[in-house]
Amino acid sequence: MKLLVRDLAQVATSAGRGAPLRGAALGEVEVVEDAFVLCDGDTVEAVGRMRDLPSVDGDVVELDGRGRCAIPGLVDCHTHAAFGGDRVEEFSLRAAGAGYEELHARGGGILSTVRATRAAGEDGLRVAVGRHRDWMRRHGTTTFEAKSGYGLDRETELASLRAIRSAGGVPTWLGAHAVPPEFDGNGDAYLDFALAEVLPHAAALAEAADVFLERGAFDSAQARRFLSACRNAGLASRLHGDQFTEQGAVELAIELGARSIDHLEATGDEGVRALAGSDVVAVVLPASALFLGRPMPPARALVDTGAAVALATDFNPGSAFCESLPLCCSLAATQLRLSPAEALAACTVNAAHVLGRADRIGRLAPGYRADVLILDVPDWRYLAYHLAGDVVDEVVIGGELP
Ligand code: NIG
Ligand code: FE
Repeated sequence: MKLLVRDLAQVATSAGRGAPLRGAALGEVEVVEDAFVLCDGDTVEAVGRMRDLPSVDGDVVELDGRGRCAIPGLVDCHTHAAFGGDRVEEFSLRAAGAGYEELHARGGGILSTVRATRAAGEDGLRVAVGRHRDWMRRHGTTTFEAKSGYGLDRETELASLRAIRSAGGVPTWLGAHAVPPEFDGNGDAYLDFALAEVLPHAAALAEAADVFLERGAFDSAQARRFLSACRNAGLASRLHGDQFTEQGAVELAIELGARSIDHLEATGDEGVRALAGSDVVAVVLPASALFLGRPMPPARALVDTGAAVALATDFNPGSAFCESLPLCCSLAATQLRLSPAEALAACTVNAAHVLGRADRIGRLAPGYRADVLILDVPDWRYLAYHLAGDVVDEVVIGGELP
């Protein structure tokens, strides 16, 4: 079946290159006015001006795009969607002044979600991930990555990865998120267990491994050990790094040839320069910085120095209870000093690179998967401009309207 979206005010898509977009190329958006998008099955067949619309025959569904704009489906390359329970109580305590790291150190924070996630069971996790995926979709996310990391025992980590897969997410094994209570603060002993007992199974379910390299979580030597073992088992490397303090995460990410380093709120000039000279994608998570009242990551400096930058939500119950990439685009424009065009590229093309899928998703061009957002706006830049606006009108995934 074909799908033709016709008479669109604009179609906007970022520049396409073989590698993640950097520097000036990050802000290059191709905008076609008075445009159409034609999909054949699950693939984009053509994008162009209405006056160049070819005759389309056969079984065609037509959508009227008048007064609306189309952009590629958004790609969220960093979420923690596999969790049970919530942290609304902790949120209230934080609002009254309690610190995020302080709550974590007292056995709350991540560890309270570990208790709720273990209690949810595999069926509960499937329901939770499906529900979170639907929330993301409503905000235009057509591909999402999701991490485990709230199980931290064999059964719950593997159940989390299976739940992510069954919801259509791209699974990352966050096997080193925190040291669970049964290891009594002994991170090395926990890693002995995780690498011996969980990795052999996680490697068959996940695409990448991730570690929280931070004071109070895992140190650089532990992160190196964990990610190296995961890499030997075939998993790509990602890191949560420089969220609160610099602990050598940038150097380690570069040394290991990681796909990405994510957070970077605490990254200084040296880290920015090192990332610019590397192939590691810098994933910025402004909703997390906002939610925790932390400094924003140096996204402008990263782009200007030539680093490859991606933008994601970090959706999770503790540090970023936010599934909206359009809101993150607004934060990118208002807090990170990125242009709407740079924000769009960062959560489409560059995010697709982080997930190893840039040949198929992240752009509206022939041959790409037919993931199309129809925005009820006269100019595609409303994506960032309309703060918390309800801009996403229709979400086409693989050529189908859900
Ligand atoms: O990316 N920093 C580590 N992990 C998550 C938060 C997890 C949580 O608070 O539940 C993050 O911010
Ligand atoms: Fe995260």
